[in-house]
Amino acid sequence: MRSCSFISIYIIVIIIIVTPLLIYHAQAQSQSQGIDSIIQLPRSGSSRTRTRTRSRRFLSIADFGARGDGFHNDTQAFLKVWEIACSLSGFINIVFPYQKTFLVTPIDIGGPCRSKITLRILGAIVAPRNPDVWHGLNKRKWIYFHGVNHLSVEGGGRIDGMGQEWWSRSCKINTTNPCLPAPTALTFHKCKSLKVRNLTVLNSQKMHIAFTSCMRVVASRLKVLAPASSPNTDGIHISATKGVEIRDSLIRTGDDCISIVRNSSRVWIRNISCGPGHGISIGSLGKSNVWEKIQNVIVDGAYLYNTDNGVRIKTWQVTFFVTVSFSFSFYFT
Ligand SMILES: *[C@@H]1O[C@H](CO)[C@@H](O)[C@H](O)[C@H]1NC(C)=O
Ligand SMILES: *[C@@H]1O[C@H](CO)[C@@H](O)[C@H](O)[C@H]1NC(C)=O
Ligand SMILES: *[C@@H]1O[C@H](CO)[C@@H](O)[C@H](O)[C@H]1NC(C)=O
Ligand SMILES: *[C@@H]1O[C@H](CO)[C@@H](O)[C@H](O)[C@H]1NC(C)=O
Ligand SMILES: *[C@@H]1O[C@H](CO)[C@@H](O)[C@H](O)[C@H]1NC(C)=O
Repeated sequence: MRSCSFISIYIIVIIIIVTPLLIYHAQAQSQSQGIDSIIQLPRSGSSRTRTRTRSRRFLSIADFGARGDGFHNDTQAFLKVWEIACSLSGFINIVFPYQKTFLVTPIDIGGPCRSKITLRILGAIVAPRNPDVWHGLNKRKWIYFHGVNHLSVEGGGRIDGMGQEWWSRSCKINTTNPCLPAPTALTFHKCKSLKVRNLTVLNSQKMHIAFTSCMRVVASRLKVLAPASSPNTDGIHISATKGVEIRDSLIRTGDDCISIVRNSSRVWIRNISCGPGHGISIGSLGKSNVWEKIQNVIVDGAYLYNTDNGVRIKTWQVTFFVTVSFSFSFYFT
């Protein structure tokens, strides 16, 4: 049954959710207002006083040896610029210039950093097409951020997983192949106060964006795109994460638009356009005998197109301690 619908769902008794989410939202807004007031004051040397000057420094990956031609390996340049940015203090922008394409192989980007870093992706970051590049590496990751606080990733650019070859090798497409792991394009692990916004993330090898064990995440103005036929290409995956706002985004992939698993809480989804795909899913499949508590999920205005499921709770029968109250509104077109 294919349809278009508008959906609002409130999971968990509304009285419990409304207050914390409103507070969370207010905080998120005041933060983003602070961040958006960009004052560029190029500085050299360090200030001796402890007063926080709101300076912003810009580092371009092109100044660290990146070619940006989509062909040369720019991974080393990315690592170098990150290392410098992470060791400085204050607000640092790492710029991926407009109209350049940076080829980046599997990369591990770690914190904590002294600085608050914004990756300003104006151009594009692309993955190697050939899955063999992952030989000997962790096949579940492409760009892996971990332990970074106050990170923002934005800029209007594009992050392309170039997943076609991974898809054709997938056991779901070629049933003679064994089922092997495939990378998540962007993983954020143990990141606090994270913003991912104004980006296009497309053709991931597997899941597009994953937030795992994070706190305070805002994902907005994203376009997450992959063909409807691409296997397991979830849009946004939320695992063991507390405080996530996903809004004003378009998600069209081959699997769940948004999947929420493993004790995640305070997830607020609004103004999402979802589909084709499998809709929004809550709970993990087949992880029997692990109890999980997914609390305070609000879907406040999602437009679902050609989705198989709308909103589904996958482990309904094994999810204890969840009080659910639904309030649906559908508009069929
Ligand atoms: C690309 O550069 C990174 C960092 O120097 C290196 O680890 C990796 O092996 C390179 N990959 C390819 C395919 O050249
Ligand atoms: C998105 O990024 C582009 C390019 O940097 C910028 O021009 C545009 O204003 C940004 N949009 C929003 C909504 O922030
Ligand atoms: C499926 O995979 C096998 C082994 O990797 C390969 O020989 C075969 O050509 C593939 N089939 C298709 C239809 O791509
Ligand atoms: C809803 O999200 C879309 C992007 O998918 C955006 O263009 C639109 O402005 C958003 N609407 C509101 C009311 O923010
Ligand atoms: C959820 O949290 C409970 C209690 O902390 C823990 O026992 C359980 O294993 C967690 N479930 C998952 C799926 O992580």
